[in-house]
Amino acid sequence: MNPVNVGLLGLGTVGGGTFNVLNRNAEEIVRRAGRGIQITHAAAREYDPSRLPGIDAITVSNDAFAVATDPAVDIVVELIGGYEPARELVLKAIANGKHVVTANKALIALHGNEIFAAAQDKGVMVAFEAAVAGGIPIIKAIREGLAANEIEWLTGIINGTGNFILTEMRDKGRDFDDVLKEAQQLGYAEADPTFDIEGIDAAHKLTILASIAFGIPLQFDRVYTEGISHITREDVAYAEELGYRIKHLGFTRRTAMGIELRVHPTLIPERRLIANVDGVMNAVLVNADAVGPTLYYGAGAGSEPTASAVVADIIDVTRTLTVDPGNRVPHLAFQPHALSDVPIMDMEEVETAYYLRLLATDKPGVLADVTRILGDSGLCIEAILQKEPMAGVDEVPIIMLTHTVGEQYMNAAIEQIETLETIHGKVTRIRLEHLDCD
Ligand code: HSE
Repeated sequence: MNPVNVGLLGLGTVGGGTFNVLNRNAEEIVRRAGRGIQITHAAAREYDPSRLPGIDAITVSNDAFAVATDPAVDIVVELIGGYEPARELVLKAIANGKHVVTANKALIALHGNEIFAAAQDKGVMVAFEAAVAGGIPIIKAIREGLAANEIEWLTGIINGTGNFILTEMRDKGRDFDDVLKEAQQLGYAEADPTFDIEGIDAAHKLTILASIAFGIPLQFDRVYTEGISHITREDVAYAEELGYRIKHLGFTRRTAMGIELRVHPTLIPERRLIANVDGVMNAVLVNADAVGPTLYYGAGAGSEPTASAVVADIIDVTRTLTVDPGNRVPHLAFQPHALSDVPIMDMEEVETAYYLRLLATDKPGVLADVTRILGDSGLCIEAILQKEPMAGVDEVPIIMLTHTVGEQYMNAAIEQIETLETIHGKVTRIRLEHLDCD
């Protein structure tokens, strides 16, 4: 059988890794796919030929549209990233009857509904395993491996850069900026690193996970998104003292009121496996009705880990080229006509437990004022930690853990606490999840 021809858009960190993995493992890949897979045409603005042995044998230009419309190309692999021109290129490739493989989470989260509809019309596949959690085959696990289940909730450490930063700050006391620079050098960080730090990258990925878990359209604009830039070393240390780790989580849950869709730093019990996922590693914990909890762990970023997922998608597409489009695995796990319009909840409606840190004047009655406000708002306190005042200062940090309460009640309570004369500055609030899987 003739080999399948691949057109590659981008020869950067992931594109270069894809080129090298496809070439290095070519023999094993033929045994798996049933036919050869060869890159025949690539487009890149710049690349380093010394990192890409064999690159001279293929046509490389800087004209990505020439690849997307090349009649000899069967599968277009988009590894440019970003919204545009990636969207236009992918739609052009689909219009030209090509299957598409992409690692572009931003593209799928924002434009996936449009792209999948176009692919459906043309009877072509758009595969996006590498868009979420790098090398972990989480899309395949949820879409196929868990297809028997009703998924109740899932949560994930789905940004390697953020996890790398939090881990280095905790273990080595390193500065935020210093660790971020290293993550950029290692090829983990997004072109715009605020996407990593402010949770946008994780929100892109959570949008995709929620969609395939619950069979809902992609709704990136409904994700509550909070980053890690306000997390201090003190919060990390106090959380540890109370038996918790702070992780930047994406969290989505089906409730009677709708679907929770949120990305924020979160305290989780340190005994949970996912609390011990460190460095650039990612993990996704899925709680489903039949199987119970399952945990997926692996490298969430980097050249060859991400290429692993891209190449697996190319093999998958190759194997199913001749399958009737109606019999392929649906893009969003559920048949397109069966997607549900269950609403995404506003953050104010969400219920969770909290970690609070306040800076209070060190005098009797202060704690009573704070607990009265919390009690009046229906909040129960689970633990209180009062630290010693620093030398020469009469202000003490007070740390509290609360039971689960609606976000709107916590917002109101914090607003009142901040008006007390004995409370200095803003109250730090970090959400807390026990991740019980009963
Ligand atoms: N910037 C992303 C991360 C790359 O750090 O996880 C992988 O999507």
